[in-house]
Amino acid sequence: MLLTSLAVLVESLLVFRRAPTTVASGLRFPAASVDMSAVCTEIASSVSSASGVFFNGTEPYPRDIVHFAVSSTQDAACSFEPGTAEDVGIALRILGKTGCPFAVKGGGHTLNPGFSSTSGVQIATSRFANVIYDAATQTATIGAGLIWDEVYAALEPYGVNVAGGRVSGIGVAGFTLGGGYSWHANQYGLTIDTVQAFELVLPNGTVTNVNESHADLFFALRGGFNNFGIVTQFIFKAFPQSQVWGGTIIYDSSQADQLTKATADFAANNTDPKANVLTSYGYFQGGDVRQEVNVGILFYDGPSPPAGLFDGFLTSNCNTEVFTRSFLSLVQSSNANSTWGMRSAFNTISVLEYPEHFLKHMQNQSITWGNKLPLNYGYVTFNAEPILPSVYNQATSPSAWPGSRKSPFSPLSIVFGWSGDGSTDDVIVKGIKESAANLLANTPITERLSLYGNYAIGDTSLEAIYGVNVGKLMEIKKQVDPENVMGLAGGFKF
Ligand SMILES: Cc1cc2nc3c(=O)[nH]c(=O)nc-3n(C[C@H](O)[C@H](O)[C@H](O)COP(=O)(O)OP(=O)(O)OC[C@H]3O[C@@H](n4cnc5c(N)ncnc54)[C@H](O)[C@@H]3O)c2cc1C
Ligand SMILES: *[C@@H]1O[C@H](CO)[C@@H](O)[C@H](O)[C@H]1NC(C)=O
Ligand SMILES: *[C@@H]1O[C@H](CO)[C@@H](O)[C@H](O)[C@H]1NC(C)=O
Ligand SMILES: *[C@@H]1O[C@H](CO)[C@@H](O)[C@H](O)[C@H]1NC(C)=O
Ligand SMILES: *[C@@H]1O[C@H](CO)[C@@H](O)[C@H](O)[C@H]1NC(C)=O
Ligand SMILES: *[C@@H]1O[C@H](CO)[C@@H](O)[C@H](O)[C@H]1NC(C)=O
Ligand SMILES: *[C@@H]1O[C@H](CO)[C@@H](O)[C@H](O)[C@H]1NC(C)=O
Repeated sequence: MLLTSLAVLVESLLVFRRAPTTVASGLRFPAASVDMSAVCTEIASSVSSASGVFFNGTEPYPRDIVHFAVSSTQDAACSFEPGTAEDVGIALRILGKTGCPFAVKGGGHTLNPGFSSTSGVQIATSRFANVIYDAATQTATIGAGLIWDEVYAALEPYGVNVAGGRVSGIGVAGFTLGGGYSWHANQYGLTIDTVQAFELVLPNGTVTNVNESHADLFFALRGGFNNFGIVTQFIFKAFPQSQVWGGTIIYDSSQADQLTKATADFAANNTDPKANVLTSYGYFQGGDVRQEVNVGILFYDGPSPPAGLFDGFLTSNCNTEVFTRSFLSLVQSSNANSTWGMRSAFNTISVLEYPEHFLKHMQNQSITWGNKLPLNYGYVTFNAEPILPSVYNQATSPSAWPGSRKSPFSPLSIVFGWSGDGSTDDVIVKGIKESAANLLANTPITERLSLYGNYAIGDTSLEAIYGVNVGKLMEIKKQVDPENVMGLAGGFKF
């Protein structure tokens, strides 16, 4: 016991001591003067007719560059919609040769500027849009350009599902390549642990199929985002899906303590892997209106939950909000699209538990920052996402993320949304960092738990996300991408 805790302590000290590696250090410096429109033209004349290159002023261009957060959208020299994996390879060879910056966008839900946007060539993967269910192998082959809503709708007629996004609009690709916390995570693990294979275009343009037998790349892609090439298809494990029970309940400020108590009890006591909740402490600022918006999203993977399981969450009028429904209807009940088009930022800490006093502190942070920051029509949310230790036990081979599966941590996401021309970005980003530090100081955590890359703010160190895996990932990166072609695209870079 003592030895084990010593080992953990030493490991975490070593991790702390290493110099942080930031996003910028991994970015390949673009060639001094790249004629980007010439690169666009060369791609257009080299690829097959299945693909298209579009300039500002054409109809596809705006939808190719658009993101959930307007602060994640940039004007690109052109957009490229590949129709085949081979055409992705042709483009990557041209981009690598010319040193032209580019970006790869799936659902465009990153809140980190520059992670899936660029002033160079915006690759939009929307033409990779197939969903093929294979009953014999119980797998689903899914195009990298889809959002989860489309996947759930396509699989519903077969009575099966895959482990994807919890609210409407999230892209398959970024969600999966970062880890993936789904409503089904307690049952089937992280979404990366449900991937059977990737169709991957390597940085040198070769199209390849990566499965468990390619140990290094299968490890690296499961958490490593866009560092190892561009994924065009995922093969996921599929599982039976019946109707589910749940939905989104909004609690007024007099009911917030009920939500807090119910969440603390659920986090401490639930052992049913089919049950899951997400509790969100929010604060809205708009014109003269300033108010708390506290929300619980309840999920049970079956038509009705065991008696009593969610009783603490239920209010007198919530039978119109939680009920038996299709999985897609539950995912779309949270109305995440209502915050499309704002400026936004993410931040995160990882926790081991969600006791009542800590949840109250999350609510305090929500009210505090929601009042203090110049959101100018916007919101803050602090989201408790309690999960079971079983989430981390389902992997059949090692993965890039998380850095360690030893401690059964839960993620906590912080999302701020605001309006304006960008002049307040700095003060709001400073606020979201301070709020995470404040929450961390209010947990008794002594070890360094992996941060979730899909919630981590852009300058988070690689060590904080990938822990002891950083060295191995850098080695694999060097082998697979010696010219650092993928360094021309933004993100957490090895
Ligand atoms: C409203 C909202 C709700 C969310 N809910 C959840 C949740 O329930 N669970 C959860 O785990 N996460 C959640 N997230 C976080 C989400 O997982 C990330 O934002 C994720 O990156 C979104 O994927 P995307 O394809 O939409 O993103 P994009 O912005 O398109 O891409 C994100 C990153 O992935 C890379 N990438 C995209 N496509 C490819 C590709 N084909 N090949 C290689 N690299 C690629 C991009 O270059 C970029 O670095 C949520 C985010 C938002 C905004
Ligand atoms: C694209 O076109 C719009 C409208 O014509 C213009 O406002 C915008 O600045 C253009 N962007 C670029 C990168 O040229
Ligand atoms: C893994 O991929 C290789 C080719 O890339 C293929 O030959 C092999 O059958 C695949 N394995 C499985 C289990 O699908
Ligand atoms: C968990 O369940 C026990 C026993 O039913 C109960 O006393 C306790 O208040 C519950 N909540 C927490 C946070 O432990
Ligand atoms: C949210 O927007 C996406 C398009 O980006 C759409 O496919 C989805 O149906 C929308 N969800 C809801 C609940 O309206
Ligand atoms: C939040 O906590 C701080 C420190 O305990 C306290 O001063 C402040 O009044 C609290 N704010 C709210 C809105 O509860
Ligand atoms: C591309 O990279 C892969 C992986 O490093 C390698 O096996 C392959 O030979 C390379 N192809 C070419 C054409 O260089």
